[in-house]
Amino acid sequence: MKVNEKGSQIREGKAKILFETLPHSSFIIQSFKDDATAFNAKKKGQIRNKGVINNAMSTLIFKHLEQNGVPTHFVEKLSDRDMLVHRVQIVPVEVVVRNRATGSITTRLGIQRGTVFEPPLVEYFYKSDALGDPLIGEGHILYFQWASESELREIFRLSLATNRLLKELFNRIEIDLIDFKLEFGRTEGRLIVADEFSPDVSRLWSKKTGESLDKDRFRQDLGRVEESYEEVFQRLERFFSERV
Ligand SMILES: Nc1ncnc2c1ncn2[C@@H]1O[C@H](COP(=O)(O)OP(=O)(O)O)[C@@H](O)[C@H]1O
Ligand SMILES: [Mg+2]
Repeated sequence: MKVNEKGSQIREGKAKILFETLPHSSFIIQSFKDDATAFNAKKKGQIRNKGVINNAMSTLIFKHLEQNGVPTHFVEKLSDRDMLVHRVQIVPVEVVVRNRATGSITTRLGIQRGTVFEPPLVEYFYKSDALGDPLIGEGHILYFQWASESELREIFRLSLATNRLLKELFNRIEIDLIDFKLEFGRTEGRLIVADEFSPDVSRLWSKKTGESLDKDRFRQDLGRVEESYEEVFQRLERFFSERV
């Protein structure tokens, strides 16, 4: 791929910066930052080296999804922090897949932390920083035309397919995939997984100790934040390198 020259900045988000690529407009570069936010950006900080780890981890995960039939925006890892991806029109809906209860659902619905969801529970949130990403239902998605009925069916199917693949993958490295958030985008008339997969957007519990190895360590000031991100990445990398 020879279309990876960095163009002008498109937008700076909370965790990544998007750049145009030259000369092609159908690709963009996501550059992963160390910045971390939580609680609708009320808590702000940095996790040392997070951008490097999340770029590398997202690369491994996107490749794994692609190889197993889930289309993603991933094209190529360009450098420590930069990933070349297909430019998409983002569906303004964050999809959360939950295998066990933790975080907002425990207080919102009074569900005991750790409760198993079998089958997994799929929730939708409207992607709006200004509104604090409110919980929505399928009715809102269809009414406000954030996605069509067939798109919503495809989003649901791909979310559960992703969950099956990643639950199995993390099982192999002694980690429980508790929940995660996905974003989807449209390109050439189809839907693909976009954004990232990392401990920023998932809950990962060590099977051995039950400890969180994800952004909850930052949210709750549990310490060893970067070490935990690094630990997850190292286990994944070891798993993939031993498999080939
Ligand atoms: N392939 C893509 N094409 C266009 N936009 C994307 C793509 N992948 C992710 N995005 C968007 O880029 C932004 C990524 O930066 P991030 O720091 O996560 O932003 P945010 O503060 O909105 O969470 C998100 O708004 C995400 O929806
Ligand atoms: Mg984001």
